[in-house]
Order: sequence, then structure tokens, then C-alpha cells
Amino acid sequence: MAQIRCTDLTLAYDGVTVADGIDFTVNAGDYLCIVGENGSGKSTLVRALLGLKAPTSGSITFGDGLTAKEIGYLPQQTEIQRDFPASVREVVLSGCIGRFGHSLFYTKLQKDLAAYHMERMGIADLAKKCYRELSGGQQQRVRLARALCATGKLLLLDEPTAGLDPIVSRELYSLIEHLHKTEKITVVMVSHDLEAVMHDASHILHLKKKQLFFGTREEYLDSEIGKTFLGGAGNA
Ligand SMILES: Nc1ncnc2c1ncn2[C@@H]1O[C@H](COP(=O)(O)OP(=O)(O)OP(=O)(O)O)[C@@H](O)[C@H]1O
Ligand SMILES: [Mg+2]
Repeated sequence: MAQIRCTDLTLAYDGVTVADGIDFTVNAGDYLCIVGENGSGKSTLVRALLGLKAPTSGSITFGDGLTAKEIGYLPQQTEIQRDFPASVREVVLSGCIGRFGHSLFYTKLQKDLAAYHMERMGIADLAKKCYRELSGGQQQRVRLARALCATGKLLLLDEPTAGLDPIVSRELYSLIEHLHKTEKITVVMVSHDLEAVMHDASHILHLKKKQLFFGTREEYLDSEIGKTFLGGAGNA
């Protein structure tokens, strides 16, 4: 049974379709990259997977032990979020809320979990720092630690390296790949970074108002759409 199964989804805003014919599955241990040009419906699909956007038609089902609540989500970062006036520790801890429910105080288990993920992401020494004073790369590590507090199963990332320089981007992709390989965390990631996508992904979903392609990385590299979109980047 798949962790996520999307069947013939149509997504629309105010009656205007932004993507349709979306049909794919994500199995435990997959690394799915969602690609497509700006405005092709990638973030809308991500919002649908999180239950924040109801599809106009079609269905999304979760299985293989995964529930919608157990998705660790790293949203596309907005300017407002970049300026968030909270400590690193508070931001990471807030990842526990969806999974454990909200209460007035965080439990010891949640605090330990946050400390553990900060350590793994190499940001333990930044715990008391204000989030908005960090570099873009440090902020993304904080957001990744936050997403990990929400899940041990599936990470959903929307353009995690947007605005980062190539070296810091590479570090972040390595961290994600490490989590995928060593901890068997399923990864669903929107990315424009074709080189990284082709290196790490097991499956590709290509959107352009509708689903142009879904299949394995190898099938994508062999396909006309893959060859056209990559324009040689797949061999890089
Ligand atoms: N809240 C909204 N209300 C109305 N239209 C929206 C809304 N959010 C997105 N859209 C429209 O839906 C389409 C798909 O947007 P979406 O954000 O899913 O694209 P995307 O593939 O994530 O693009 P990008 O690569 O720029 O992040 C766009 O035409 C966008 O203008
Ligand atoms: Mg987007």
C-alpha cells in the first residue's frame, strides 16, 4: 500500500483550474521530485497534500502507516517568515504541535525531540539565537529540524534551497539525502534545481497545468519531456 495515492486530481482557485489529471503514488522510501515552471501548480499540489486545499475532483489517500498529520512540511519561505521574531529553539519546537497537539507547555519528550533534531542539523549552538538574525542556510536547517519534529516518516519540502547560494544549497540537499538514505524517510520535494533533482530523486512528477509526466528518474531521463526540460542537465 502506498503512503500517498493521488487519483485524477483537479486543483482550482475560484473555478479556474490550475492543474488537472494529477495521478501518482508515493511509496515508503521514495524520493519524489515535483518539477515544472513557475505557476504550474506545484505549491498548490503541496497544499492539497497537506489538506489545506480541497481538490475540485479526484482523491488523495494516505496509507502504509502514514496519516496526514505525520507529514513534516517545509513551506516555500516568504519574506515575513524570514523575519520571524522567535528563538531557534521555539521555531523548532513548534514543529511538535501538529503531531502531539497544542498544550500550554511543551513536554520533556518534545523538548528532547527538538534538541535531538537541532543537534542532527548542526544548529544546537544556535538554539537561543533569534531566527531572523540567521543566514538563509542556517534558517533552512532550523526549518528542516522543525519539519523533522513533525515526522519520522515523510518530509514534504517546497523549494527548500530558494535564495541559497550553490554551496549552501548542496549542503542542504546532502542533509535531505542523508535523512532519506539512513533513516528511510520518504521525501517529496518541489525543486527548480535540476542537477540536484536528477542526482537524488527516485521519481519525478512534472506539472504544467496538468500532469506531463510521472515515473522513475530513469524513465524521465529517457522521455521526450525529460530530455526537453533538462536540456542536458540530466547528464551534468
Ligand atoms: N491563493 C490563490 N488564489 C488564487 N490563485 C492562486 C492562489 N495561489 C496560487 N494561485 C495561482 O495558481 C497557479 C499555480 O500556483 P502555484 O503557487 O501552485 O505554482 P508553483 O508551480 O508553485 O509556482 P512557483 O514555481 O512560482 O512557486 C498560479 O497561476 C497562481 O497564480
Ligand atoms: Mg511554488
